[in-house]
Amino acid sequence: MTLEPANADSIAEASRILRAGGIVAFPTETVYGLGADATQSEAIERIFAAKGRPSFNPLIVHIGDVSWAEQLAEADPRLYKLARAFWPGPLSLVMRRRKTAALAPMVSAGLDSVAIRWPANPIARDLLNAVQRPLAAPSANLSGTVSPTRAEHVVQSLGDKVDLILDGGPCTVGLESTVLDLTSDAAAILRPGAITAEQIETVIGQLGTAPVSPDAPKSPGQLLSHYAPGLPVRLNCSEAHEGEALLGFGATENATLNLSARGDLSEAGANLFAMLRELDDPSRFRAIAVAPIPDHGLGAAINDRLRRAAAR
Ligand code: TXA
Ligand code: MG
Repeated sequence: MTLEPANADSIAEASRILRAGGIVAFPTETVYGLGADATQSEAIERIFAAKGRPSFNPLIVHIGDVSWAEQLAEADPRLYKLARAFWPGPLSLVMRRRKTAALAPMVSAGLDSVAIRWPANPIARDLLNAVQRPLAAPSANLSGTVSPTRAEHVVQSLGDKVDLILDGGPCTVGLESTVLDLTSDAAAILRPGAITAEQIETVIGQLGTAPVSPDAPKSPGQLLSHYAPGLPVRLNCSEAHEGEALLGFGATENATLNLSARGDLSEAGANLFAMLRELDDPSRFRAIAVAPIPDHGLGAAINDRLRRAAAR
């Protein structure tokens, strides 16, 4: 494994590795992704193996321009409206896959759909432009653990399994993208993220509701215990019990760490995964108590991740 600061040279090297079928971790504005050329089956298999990811869980395909989406997915007028409003950015669109799309079958895990995202992070964009191939990239962590928002997190969880890690510093959003299902007429959010339901509704009208049966999730990432630290997590706490860490928000007293002392949800989202990792230390704590987070705007995505972290 090599860890390199992201610059023109390391991005060119990453591009060569990806075109040759290797796997490279790179920053996006949401979380670090573990990328592979989405057209090469062996490269995609390496991603599933490195993450220990179940083969039924499909990958998001990252693109460098809206025109790439036209090659991968069947025509849908909502694509252009949403792309104009939110791309490049933290929104993944699940669309009907074109029969002719040059994608390794495992990317879609047997579904006839494909999730597509044009990321905003300039390093991710430069990399996609250099590779000129769609890159399948799940979060660069072991399956079922907290997503990485810094290059060090990738080193800790996947270091020896990755050909190259591009270090682009901390991710600005810090929560995985909103996943929006466009495979039926009623668009529905499968995973809440930084682009909120309210924002999407202003562009394409009212959303439907996603099926939420935990046994047959439409988006396998909806499996409840999916972003779990090792220690138990307790939610909506105003104080910690004996031996617990307290993750605060706003004016929480005696917080071990505070997601945002000024009560800013964007700051809290950017800090969430790094702080959960820092507190996930059995030599210091026996559990993590988390202060209540308002459920509006980005708070809905933060609370979604916290509920998953608390489920076991
Ligand atoms: O922000 C993000 O989306 C990050 C960065 C790296 O882009 N990626 C990410 O990937 O979070 P991953 O694999 O950890 O999560 C992808 C989510 C999963 O919940 C998966 O089930 C869902 O997207 N998904 C992917 N393809 C799908 C499809 N065809 N239909 C339904 N859900 C899909
Ligand atoms: Mg993930």
